Amino acid sequence: MALLNRFNYTSPPPLPSFTKSPSTSTLFTFSTLPRNRRLNRKFPSFKLTATLTADTTAGSVSNGGQPKLLLEVKDLTAVISESGQKILNGVNLSIYEGEIHAIMGKNGSGKSTFAKVLVGHKDYEVTGGSVVFKGENLLEMEPEDRSLAGLFLSFQSPVEIPGVSNSDFLQMAYNARRRKLGQPELDPLQFYGYIMPKLEMVNIKADFLNRNVNEGFSGGEKKRNEILQLAVLGAELAILDEIDSGLDVDALRDVSKAVNALMTPTNSVLMITHYRRLLEFIKPTYIHIMDEGRISKTGDISIASILEKEGYKAMSST
Ligand SMILES: Nc1ncnc2c1ncn2[C@@H]1O[C@H](COP(=O)(O)OP(=O)(O)OP(=O)(O)O)[C@@H](O)[C@H]1O
Ligand SMILES: [Mg+2]
Repeated sequence: MALLNRFNYTSPPPLPSFTKSPSTSTLFTFSTLPRNRRLNRKFPSFKLTATLTADTTAGSVSNGGQPKLLLEVKDLTAVISESGQKILNGVNLSIYEGEIHAIMGKNGSGKSTFAKVLVGHKDYEVTGGSVVFKGENLLEMEPEDRSLAGLFLSFQSPVEIPGVSNSDFLQMAYNARRRKLGQPELDPLQFYGYIMPKLEMVNIKADFLNRNVNEGFSGGEKKRNEILQLAVLGAELAILDEIDSGLDVDALRDVSKAVNALMTPTNSVLMITHYRRLLEFIKPTYIHIMDEGRISKTGDISIASILEKEGYKAMSST
């Protein structure tokens, strides 16, 4: 769940509501203020049909000049905070603006751990190496600041937040980002106008906004909801951890179209997947293989074809 970092969320609080932290801060924290202090809006319930005309061949997008380095990871090592078990064993990865990177790799090879370390997940401790994002030392930034700086992670298993409506959650998060960018916050009506085309983009019914975040959502609905968050917030680097898992073919197409539509010459996507199918919809500039906590191989789409035919044993022999 991408926004949990922003909200420093750890476990479902009883009847939570949002309280804005001081205006100098970009953070929101949960509180147990009375429920009636929460924004309580209802959005009309009607089905929107997707009318995306996105170019689904987004790949290497030119910036009209030299693309800028967006993310540079060097020799990154990390352990599980609680046990000290080493999971990342020296990851090296550079992502330039406009590029789409895919990471594949066996179960348990460290893909999700890498993604979570990038967003500053508390379960992991970085023990070595460096990560520079947009020219800044990412590892020194708080998780919520990483998010506000334009790093987005859609989690492999999105978390439910009982008692918090999707609309409140998205509006708070979006306004936090606007404050960070020095822009005025949107009131509920303005936000409604802003979010409607995003719902259309992801092909989500408007009544999902009234439901609690991911509560009772099917697996596929949760994944669509993650992409809705991405569409609302925008991100310079969107990390999508198995966004294709559990999606039916139509949903996969919708989600892929939305991701492609969100690509600009100055942002990038890092997607983690096990299957070539997603890569046919969102065409990667590079594919990396993660093996035992490091990137062992980098290539183009042909890597995914070899994998599909021959499995990971082919990766060690090529
Ligand atoms: N918080 C944690 N506590 C204990 N073990 C963990 C934790 N996080 C990761 N691990 C272990 O680290 C290894 C790498 O996990 P990770 O989730 O990064 O794998 P993955 O490559 O994403 O796998 P998959 O393809 O199955 O999603 C696994 O053996 C996993 O059990
Ligand atoms: Mg994983």
